[in-house]
Amino acid sequence: MSLPRQRRIRTLAVLFCVITFTTFLFSYTFRDPSLYFLKYASHLSDSFFSKGPCACQQCMVEVEDDPWFSEHFNQSIHPLMSRENSVLSDETFKWWQWLQSERQPANFSEVVEELFQVIPDEVLYMDSSPERCRTCSVVGNSGNLKGSHYGSLIDSSDFIIRMNQAPTSGFEEDVGSRTTHHVMYPESAIDLDNNTSLVLIPFKTLDLQWIISALTTGTIKYTYLPVMSRIKANKDKVLIYSPTFFKYVYEAWLEGHGRYPSTGFLSLLFAIHICDEVNVFGFGADQYGNWHHYWEENRLAGAFRHTGVHDGSYEHNVTLLLADKHKIQMFKGR
Ligand SMILES: *[C@@H]1O[C@H](CO)[C@@H](O)[C@H](O)[C@H]1NC(C)=O
Ligand SMILES: *[C@@H]1O[C@H](CO)[C@@H](O)[C@H](O)[C@H]1NC(C)=O
Ligand SMILES: *[C@@H]1O[C@H](CO)[C@@H](O)[C@H](O)[C@H]1NC(C)=O
Ligand SMILES: *[C@@H]1O[C@H](CO)[C@@H](O)[C@H](O)[C@H]1NC(C)=O
Ligand SMILES: *[C@@H]1O[C@H](CO)[C@@H](O)[C@H](O)[C@H]1NC(C)=O
Repeated sequence: MSLPRQRRIRTLAVLFCVITFTTFLFSYTFRDPSLYFLKYASHLSDSFFSKGPCACQQCMVEVEDDPWFSEHFNQSIHPLMSRENSVLSDETFKWWQWLQSERQPANFSEVVEELFQVIPDEVLYMDSSPERCRTCSVVGNSGNLKGSHYGSLIDSSDFIIRMNQAPTSGFEEDVGSRTTHHVMYPESAIDLDNNTSLVLIPFKTLDLQWIISALTTGTIKYTYLPVMSRIKANKDKVLIYSPTFFKYVYEAWLEGHGRYPSTGFLSLLFAIHICDEVNVFGFGADQYGNWHHYWEENRLAGAFRHTGVHDGSYEHNVTLLLADKHKIQMFKGR
């Protein structure tokens, strides 16, 4: 063999090794979803979700997008509150204060300032991979999960979003065991494990005061109902659902139907904004048309049916349209 040829082979071999190793490193590193959540104290990116190009088969935002979807979807509204975007427009503030009006609300900007001394301000989803495909499971609380055996399918997503009182213990086979995000409000709160992000939906200034109190002194015990005075949750992972985003969901997606969106619908839109691929479980009635929670024995138990606050059937229609347009995939039980 001539010398140049030998050298070429050696170069190729080295190149091959480097590529293999890098590929391995990337697929290994970026499969660990906890890495998505490293708090990244850099201000290099002004985006909450510094998203690289999506590498899914089908992505949430496509170049040639569905006109109905593009008309409703607005990427520039951040789902989470930071110090920076916490200053609300007068219109948004009025709307938000009307949701569960308080007789003597505390000073909002002072509460927000105190809040961000307890929880981190800017939690970026560190995601420096050049290409990525973030898959999410949004798990509702419907009885249609009973006997579904969806557990391992749900757990295989990068993010698993649950809501309100949802337990996993004892139901793993059907609902899975991992939770990366748990969406709740003070009156629906439960304790979480250290790896789960608490996503608080605030309906009033008192709710922001409650999360501060529940993570520190435990002085707030009552809102309009008795609430947990202390909560087990990782302070470093607490996120606040933005009131501006809340209003956007209500106006752009529900076109003002109902008094305000349900936790399920708010969680779904949260997922649509932070995920590339969204799988939806446990939404809607069970196979007999009953509305109840999967952890309730009695199928006719007084669960969410028609609360008067939410327009369940309009929400359901929009959810089905999102599935029709292949923006989400619905799993309806089996
Ligand atoms: C999206 O939201 C931004 C910020 O509120 C707003 O300025 C913009 O007009 C919205 N875009 C559409 C298409 O509605
Ligand atoms: C709330 O507090 C801020 C800062 O202390 C103050 O500038 C503002 O005027 C207060 N707002 C109201 C409505 O009292
Ligand atoms: C929970 O996680 C935080 C980091 O986010 C860590 O500092 C803390 O020690 C953990 N607590 C427990 C009880 O594991
Ligand atoms: C949290 O995550 C760490 C690291 O991934 C793991 O070792 C630990 O068991 C998890 N803790 C809980 C309570 O799931
Ligand atoms: C939901 O969609 C159905 C069928 O398109 C329609 O008949 C019904 O009026 C819609 N419901 C609401 C609340 O918009």
